[in-house]
Amino acid sequence: MSDDENLLEVRGLKVHFPIHKGIIFRRKAGFVRAVDGVDFSVKKGEALGLVGESGCGKSTTAMAVAQLQAATAGSIRFAGEDLGSLSPKDLRRARRHFQIVFQDPYSSLDPRMRAFDIIAEPLRIYARLGIVDADEAEIERRTLSLMERCGLSTSFARRYPHEFSGGQRQRIGIARALSLGPKLIIADEPVSALDVSIQSQILNLLKDLRKDFDLTFLFIAHDLAVIEYFCDRIAVMYLGRVVETASAAELNKNPMHPYTRALLSAVPLPDPEKERSRRRILLKGDVPSPSAERKGCPFRERCPEAMERCAFSAPNLRAVAEGHEVSCFLYGEA
Ligand SMILES: Nc1ncnc2c1ncn2[C@@H]1O[C@H](COP(=O)(O)OP(=O)(O)O)[C@@H](O)[C@H]1O
Ligand SMILES: [Mg+2]
Repeated sequence: MSDDENLLEVRGLKVHFPIHKGIIFRRKAGFVRAVDGVDFSVKKGEALGLVGESGCGKSTTAMAVAQLQAATAGSIRFAGEDLGSLSPKDLRRARRHFQIVFQDPYSSLDPRMRAFDIIAEPLRIYARLGIVDADEAEIERRTLSLMERCGLSTSFARRYPHEFSGGQRQRIGIARALSLGPKLIIADEPVSALDVSIQSQILNLLKDLRKDFDLTFLFIAHDLAVIEYFCDRIAVMYLGRVVETASAAELNKNPMHPYTRALLSAVPLPDPEKERSRRRILLKGDVPSPSAERKGCPFRERCPEAMERCAFSAPNLRAVAEGHEVSCFLYGEA
């Protein structure tokens, strides 16, 4: 695979959850359109940031990409293979190459397992399946070296999750995700649950690991500052769709979608002079319910620039410049 190829390609991804009514007679009463037509790709070695408000479908996208949540429609190609069409056996083989780091280091680790066993578990399972060639001595060697690499003293190997701080637990989660030597890490808000002082330590650890292990990242956050620090390219999500993608520098300089502009205008500036003089774009109303049937642009009720046509049809994501895609009628529609 050449460097220019996409390691991950997501096209038209939809995840709809059925809503049920009634306690005894359960009947379907519509859908939550958590992910409603998401497109993006991640090149080998790249870190793509997925940013958007809480509830816009970031975690559901992550779970679908990691094959932990069934997709309603669309395709997820990893290293050229359509993951949705693989047999369970082939999917297990492919899975070692993409691993997920969860947001909450308190609920994502088994409280009854020791740190060492949590980190070694994926390797043990794959060795037992014969997919990875490693005996118990090799598993121990690799696990202890990963602990050290992730900033965990190997003297903590026999401790349980509750004996660690939040930051240390996230280091355990990261070491576990690296256990099988993956190519892609799907990091779902990996620092959002941590104290601000710990956030940068974990971000820097991920940056170092990215370089050392040649990792590709799908990096999810609701905080643009965190995304800009870590990512090369950014995809902005709103209500189950990607509304704009561009390089981090381009997005900062030339945000086009009205939602991206509002999002950027809310990031505080370090220069107090500039901070005082800049204009915030305030969005009216709340994020609409993802279960409502929708015609037209999903952002139109809150958009300061909504036009008549936005009520009748939804714009598609299209390229407006090299590497810059936006879904908005302000920029024409093919
Ligand atoms: N298992 C589920 N069943 C029903 N609705 C869900 C489920 N998981 C998520 N949702 C809904 O899907 C939407 C997107 O959720 P999520 O992907 O967690 O957003 P984010 O990670 O961006 O905050 C939300 O409205 C959420 O309530
Ligand atoms: Mg989430």
